[in-house]
Amino acid sequence: MKVLVIGSGGREHALVWRLAQSPRVSRMWCAPGNAGIAQERLSNGTPVETAAIGAENLDGLLAFAKEKQIDFTVVGPDNPLALGIVNLFQSHGLRIWGPNRRAAQFEASKVFSQQFMEKHGIPTARAGTFDDAGRARAFAESLGGRCAVKADGLALGKGVLMCGNTAEAARAIDEILVNKAFGTAGAKIVIQEFLEGMEVSLHALCDGKTAKLFPGSQDHKRALDGDRGLNTGGMGTYSPVPFLTDATLAEAERKIIAPWLRGCAAEGIDFRGILYPGLMLTKEGPKVLEFNARFGDPETQVYLMRLDSDLLELLLASAGGNLGGVEIRWKKEASVCVIMASEGYPGSSTKGKEIRGLEDAAKLPGVKVFHAGTALKDGKVVTNGGRVLGVTALGADLKSAQAAAYAAVERIQFEGAWFRRDIGAKAL
Ligand code: AMP
Ligand code: GLY
Repeated sequence: MKVLVIGSGGREHALVWRLAQSPRVSRMWCAPGNAGIAQERLSNGTPVETAAIGAENLDGLLAFAKEKQIDFTVVGPDNPLALGIVNLFQSHGLRIWGPNRRAAQFEASKVFSQQFMEKHGIPTARAGTFDDAGRARAFAESLGGRCAVKADGLALGKGVLMCGNTAEAARAIDEILVNKAFGTAGAKIVIQEFLEGMEVSLHALCDGKTAKLFPGSQDHKRALDGDRGLNTGGMGTYSPVPFLTDATLAEAERKIIAPWLRGCAAEGIDFRGILYPGLMLTKEGPKVLEFNARFGDPETQVYLMRLDSDLLELLLASAGGNLGGVEIRWKKEASVCVIMASEGYPGSSTKGKEIRGLEDAAKLPGVKVFHAGTALKDGKVVTNGGRVLGVTALGADLKSAQAAAYAAVERIQFEGAWFRRDIGAKAL
């Protein structure tokens, strides 16, 4: 089977790495990919190839898939999904994994998601949706100013402004609705009450009728140790999450996943892909902060280290609508992923710095270094983005996985490299 993976981050490297292990894959491409992806090989020894086509160049990707006679395309990032790549490929008779444009709205529109949750009784923050700044300010005031102000559409992960008082909330509302800081993505906003608790990530693989919940994982969104500093795309993850007990997972399945599935059925939404709810574990139980409609990055890195099933078979079943009888098997071991970032991230960051020690790090048992922002230049691996590497380890328990991941981090150097030193600390 010829497989195409779309995207270029650490998530896509992890997807390529696992899909490449499937005995049914005969050739694989990744568009546009990165330096680490270009070094992967299939189980038959064939190298994985990269193709310089951007993830949002839908016409280019379609032409490529036709030219190479791709049997199955796997979409990593949110943007092509929101642009309708699944509809486009299907209309040309091509098999592709990921939610169609309508289903991708769970991530592409926070207003859609918030209204869906309220309509179908899914626990979430008290919230309002607005296109008028005056009414938005009045609602924020009714919450005492402690709230999250969120642009409706996709805003490169930057569309959520956390506010501690009414003045901050008014500024955030004006930024989005009046100054149009996020352009049309901010034509509407959702304002949520501020929820207190531990934040965790859920993933459920869906086939339009069923949803299979993964074990829990936790991301670290803030740049600095102790959850201080700016919000980032995610600085590290671990799985499982000891304080996300089986009882809480069962509660999330009953109160969130089940009504979500019923809501999709009632509204004729055919969701085939990963539903990734961001959850706050509050005193009143788990509540949904947001839905994503794709694999998390860097959640994927720890999940795929722990996955014991054939990823290709799972994604084919998800796309084909026959996940029902499928069991997803997980290793008992724990996994930790530490992101190494470039100087300046999450602001504009440096590029083109040579990365050393990758081979040394990869020699450590249980370690896999996933590339995110990397490129090949004159035969050397160099930095090419904010999040550079996801240094990931599998260990008997979280403590040993964490020790292995940080031992590998210590072997890697590039100018300006930085990382959080407390990934997994909340669980230990
Ligand atoms: P989102 O993209 O909606 O997940 O928001 C980005 C981050 O902002 C989340 O990962 C949370 O850490 C934080 N956040 C969002 N909404 C809330 C909320 N209602 N209460 C507290 N924190 C929030
Ligand atoms: N882990 C954050 C994200 O994928 O959005």
